[in-house]
Amino acid sequence: MSFQNPVFIPGPTNIPENLRKACDMPTIDHRSPLFGQILHPARAGVQKVLKSTSAEVFIFPSTGTGGWETALTNTLSAGDTVLAARNGMFSQRWIDMCQRHGLNVNVVETPWGQGVPADRYAEILAADTGHQIKAVLATHNETATGVRSNIAAVRQALDDAGHPAMLFVDGVSSIGSMEFRFDDWGVDVAVTGSQKGFMLPAGLGIVGFSAKAMEATKSAKLPRTFFDVHDMAKGYANSAYPYTPAVGLLNGLNTACGMLLDEGLANVFARHHRIAEGVRAAVGAWGLDLCAASPDLYSDTVSAIRTPEGFNATSIVTHAAEVYGVAFGVGLGEVAGKVFRIGHLGSLTDVMMLSGIATAEMCMADLGLDITLGSGVAAAQDYYRANRAERQQDAA
Ligand SMILES: Cc1ncc(COP(=O)(O)O)c(C=O)c1O
Repeated sequence: MSFQNPVFIPGPTNIPENLRKACDMPTIDHRSPLFGQILHPARAGVQKVLKSTSAEVFIFPSTGTGGWETALTNTLSAGDTVLAARNGMFSQRWIDMCQRHGLNVNVVETPWGQGVPADRYAEILAADTGHQIKAVLATHNETATGVRSNIAAVRQALDDAGHPAMLFVDGVSSIGSMEFRFDDWGVDVAVTGSQKGFMLPAGLGIVGFSAKAMEATKSAKLPRTFFDVHDMAKGYANSAYPYTPAVGLLNGLNTACGMLLDEGLANVFARHHRIAEGVRAAVGAWGLDLCAASPDLYSDTVSAIRTPEGFNATSIVTHAAEVYGVAFGVGLGEVAGKVFRIGHLGSLTDVMMLSGIATAEMCMADLGLDITLGSGVAAAQDYYRANRAERQQDAA
């Protein structure tokens, strides 16, 4: 594997030089006032990226999976019912975590390639007149299938049913790359990590809690220690942690938020959309299909590309790594061997993406697929030439 080439996995993403430098800092005393100068702006920056004015942001030395656990253990008790759709590997893992914590999960089985079925959620919530369901889970961007779900529609389903359940959203592969509106969507807990939209190494689990989720912590009985948000909040009040913080990563997070906000979230999202559209144009030119069932579901951070029946899609990923020193993502779970994934998020430009598309083409041709070299690259070039980046003002 070459350290020179960009990666095209759906996280961890390429790390810009200034973020690498921001993480690489001398040791400071994490109980000194200097630490507060890193911690508080980082939390405020995340709140802005979430498009919230009130979310309580907690940042753990962890990953997205720790963020899931933070959401569950701080707000729920064993035996509580939660509603979740299983439409890919990551929604599956979150469901598994709920079950291991003794929660009763009402699982809506959903074909992989489809989004969270807000209409089914609406029916189930309307039928739950006794309000047994305490939380509704939604994976905003299913990284395994390249499917973006409509979180506003899930909120609508809750509101239409007049249902008081909390809304927990996994934004691990969307936050900082695609539109995410914590306040407007009435999200109660948002979960992400440092290694995707924030362009940092893995190592931080990042969550936003609404006032309602904070209220739920008072009666929630699931055991929690490391991920206890009250312990964390007490620490924050003294510009500290209940344990040793990952200071370098927090410094990186502060810088990353500054980068995203300086570029303007509207521009960040437009850049991701433009780069993704180029990839989708290439996929079309190759005569292949996306796992995502329809354009409204297309993810702007990852494309899961189906290969022809009988072909092992994983061989593309292995070949790219061995022969060209380039990383793509393998298919996971139900779609293992059937799709390969091109990650197109974080610190990425059209020009970098063209090199990834060219490499995917070489691999597919090497492995005997009927791909004309240059076909996907040309389709993406056409798209990028016709849709140059235009700077937009950030709307609220
Ligand atoms: C949608 C989604 N949720 C959760 C996770 C788990 O996050 P982590 O690997 O940071 O624990 C991932 C990881 O890729 C993901 O893509």
